[in-house]
Amino acid sequence: MSLTGKQLPDLKTEIPGPNSRGCIDDLARSECPAITARRARRQEQTGVDQDPIVWRRALGANVEDVDGNVFVDLTGAFAVAGLGHSHPKVVEAVKQQSERLIHAMGDVYPGEPKIELCRRLAQITPKPLTHSILGLSGSSAVEAALKTAAIHTGKPGALAFWGGYHGLGYGALGVTAYREEFRRPFLAQTNPQVDHVPFPDTFRAPFGMDRGAKPADVRDAVLTHIRQKLEGPATAAESIGAIIVEPIQGRGGEVMAPQGFLEGLRRICDEFGLVLIFDEIYTGFGRTGSMFACEQAGVVPDILCLGKAMGGGFPLSVAIGREEVMASWGMSSGEAIHTSTFLGNPLGCAMGLAVIDALVEENWPQKVAQKGRDIRKRLEVFARRYPDRVGRVRGRGLMLGLELVEDPDSRAPDGALAFELVQHCRQKGYLVLPSGRWGQVLALSPPFMVTDEQWEGFFEALDQGFQSRPQEEL
Ligand SMILES: Cc1ncc(COP(=O)(O)O)c(C=O)c1O
Repeated sequence: MSLTGKQLPDLKTEIPGPNSRGCIDDLARSECPAITARRARRQEQTGVDQDPIVWRRALGANVEDVDGNVFVDLTGAFAVAGLGHSHPKVVEAVKQQSERLIHAMGDVYPGEPKIELCRRLAQITPKPLTHSILGLSGSSAVEAALKTAAIHTGKPGALAFWGGYHGLGYGALGVTAYREEFRRPFLAQTNPQVDHVPFPDTFRAPFGMDRGAKPADVRDAVLTHIRQKLEGPATAAESIGAIIVEPIQGRGGEVMAPQGFLEGLRRICDEFGLVLIFDEIYTGFGRTGSMFACEQAGVVPDILCLGKAMGGGFPLSVAIGREEVMASWGMSSGEAIHTSTFLGNPLGCAMGLAVIDALVEENWPQKVAQKGRDIRKRLEVFARRYPDRVGRVRGRGLMLGLELVEDPDSRAPDGALAFELVQHCRQKGYLVLPSGRWGQVLALSPPFMVTDEQWEGFFEALDQGFQSRPQEEL
């Protein structure tokens, strides 16, 4: 049967089914064991015997696995499938491009689509961002931005935030501070000139601030802390050339900063001559209800990093910056000092162009803003229904989450509950993921076109998930 993209779940086997389990056993024989979580590992950590499901095809909001089970994907496959899986315009673009030119020579003999994509990116990103370095992953866009900042300022260090996730390449890992275990084995190889400061999360306020602290106080405390670092006698002022921040922390748990925070960072960067880098790899391309999240704050960074949804499923990313900042690299003299074999790959660029066209022509940012408000209201219902376990509804647009706590007084993060709910929803045919430093947030980053009927089904499954907890625990 063909997928429509708008189907409700249709489960034919136990989940995961026998074919998925077989595939995962096969994979275990030839893939590094650190990559794909398998039942033995999961069981050891969580007591839950859960293999992944193995995907065969996907369309719109539906994913079918190798056992023929149809799911509703509310992860957007790591927030990539904003337009839904295999959007027709993206499929058409890749088909046509694959018949013309699959691979060119990025920095030496570029293909046509790269030229058009750079032009379009300069048009759709906030002014005065105009000059791009294309990449193949979020991590590579972040690294291009960090290198640009180092070249522009002559300062090798950066300031980043706890809970921030910027990727796991050595450069990106230096600024990532999402989970300590990601960094620990490689600390000796990451940039020692990176300083991390708390993100102004009003639910878990930093510096031992009072539970009732106002958002503006949390914001100002963090901004003052940063300012003191830069003014202080320590080496920060000499070494730090950039501030990198996610306008809304994604993997960190859909954490929004208080109003005025990004403006505050802009002022600090202007005052101290730092390069402001916004990592919108998660939030970009309509996800939060505007083409880019920074537009809602009215703040333009010096460099904007984009990825994930950008390529419609193709590995594609960009660091796009102000002309003056990007010009710090100087002119290529024939041997580009920052490039890669697949930079500006024609298939990816053609798909990226189709993504931009579809987002604009189909008016998705505005639709996401509206839908996001509706879904947020529905999540607020859960916060009221289960006040002992839902600490906060997080996020904006279609980047939302339920922050789960062990109890409302301690606000201790409840990663175990999030994991159980994720598993429960999967058993009902809805794919969601946990986010947050402790895996305590039930995260939603769905395709934008999930239907009302699919949302209803999910909320029903989620409610059952809460209900199926032993009552004394709720
Ligand atoms: C905000 C942000 N930046 C960077 C990255 C890294 O992207 P990639 O996994 O494509 O390297 C991610 C990935 O989740 C992200 O959410």
